[in-house]
Amino acid sequence: MGISYEDSVRKFSEKFKVSKEYTEARTPKIPGAYSRKTTNFGPFAIFADHGEGQYIYTVDGHKLLDLNNNSTVNVLGHNHPRITAALSEAVSKGYSFGNPTAYEYKLAEILCDRIESVEKIKFTCSASEACITALQIARGYTGKNKIAKFEGGYHGSLEGLHISSHPSPDRFPGPADNPTPLPDSAGIPPQTIANTVVLTQNNFPACEKILRANARDVACVILELQASAGGIIILEKDFVMKLRALTEELGILMICDETCTFRANYHGLQSVYGIKPDLTVLGKLIGGGLPIGAVGGSAEVYKVVENNQVRISGTHHGHSLCAAAGVACLEVMDEAAYARLNDMAARIRDELNTWASCEKYPFIVYGLYSQLCYAFTDRPGREITTHRDFWNYINRDQILISALEMAVRGYYPVHRGEISLSLPMTDDDITGFIQTMKDIVNEIYS
Ligand SMILES: Cc1ncc(COP(=O)(O)O)c(C=O)c1O
Repeated sequence: MGISYEDSVRKFSEKFKVSKEYTEARTPKIPGAYSRKTTNFGPFAIFADHGEGQYIYTVDGHKLLDLNNNSTVNVLGHNHPRITAALSEAVSKGYSFGNPTAYEYKLAEILCDRIESVEKIKFTCSASEACITALQIARGYTGKNKIAKFEGGYHGSLEGLHISSHPSPDRFPGPADNPTPLPDSAGIPPQTIANTVVLTQNNFPACEKILRANARDVACVILELQASAGGIIILEKDFVMKLRALTEELGILMICDETCTFRANYHGLQSVYGIKPDLTVLGKLIGGGLPIGAVGGSAEVYKVVENNQVRISGTHHGHSLCAAAGVACLEVMDEAAYARLNDMAARIRDELNTWASCEKYPFIVYGLYSQLCYAFTDRPGREITTHRDFWNYINRDQILISALEMAVRGYYPVHRGEISLSLPMTDDDITGFIQTMKDIVNEIYS
């Protein structure tokens, strides 16, 4: 009955035999055989040889439709000719400067033009770094020390925000409406944990109570409008509007982390919600596949950067290659490109949800844009509105089995059931994915 985990692991290990050998050979020098952790969903990672368009070609000789796209980065898929050409041109001019270059300013202009709340911007090397920089700006501006974040909100793995991002059911700390900060790793100093206030997604009364009680100390609330650290959690519009009004009233800055959600809309997901955060963090796709992060903000808040009260600097900040690739990527990402990505996502969501509900399967697909999540839940019609909901009501074994089965059947998935689309995907790719998902769900529930 169904598909067993052991059976899926066996098929996976046979199909990706070379990757398994690489893992065994390399683990003695690099723990886990690679520096990333989050892309792994099986007993070992699948090694990529190269990528082209919507596909990854693995060292095992397999072609997989890439549903990961480097955790939302590769919005144009792999090896896009416009990005490759932009990189060649930029490389021909040199590739490491302590001087400003035209590419950095062009990228800044594009982002300031597109995102209404972003009047000023600085670049970093990663979104993790940008998030920490945003906290520093918020602290510098408000003169307050604590930060508020959501349970299940992932903003990178640097010390100041590596707290309560991934608490799992085995270790949910504190009550659901007043979570206790829990470090995601050893090595986080106690004072960092003590300076963190943890909020619950979509529970305004609980957030209000906590923020009012800590208003004198809290510099900022950092959030993602659609979080994806543990499944996908969509913040409700009404909740976000109330939170925005509350932050303004209490003199707390709102930092909107659009590292992934800038995939949703030409003007950022914040424009769909109709909010203007004080600071916006960007990353991933704005580097066209090269490492980057950015902190944008209002002219008012940026005063503390302009007058050097808050100092931001980094050897590779605004790197010409990353900026050149980012400009090329965003030039391709016009409004029609966003619409195409969102249409493909809507088709997957609608077709699979209609089908699952006809079959009375406790299976759902959700997400606001081209980063979606599928979940095997405890009952048909289950809604997932908080991080704890996700882990309390989904069947983790079934998600894992489905990821392994996806890989065996020609798709490169993301653990936790997330998928991230790319522009080169065709209608046939989407049809194939929907059918494969149905086959796997049918087999799991058989
Ligand atoms: C919402 C969000 N913020 C920040 C980060 C950190 O980005 P980076 O890995 O580029 O440092 C991530 C990474 O997954 C993310 O999803």
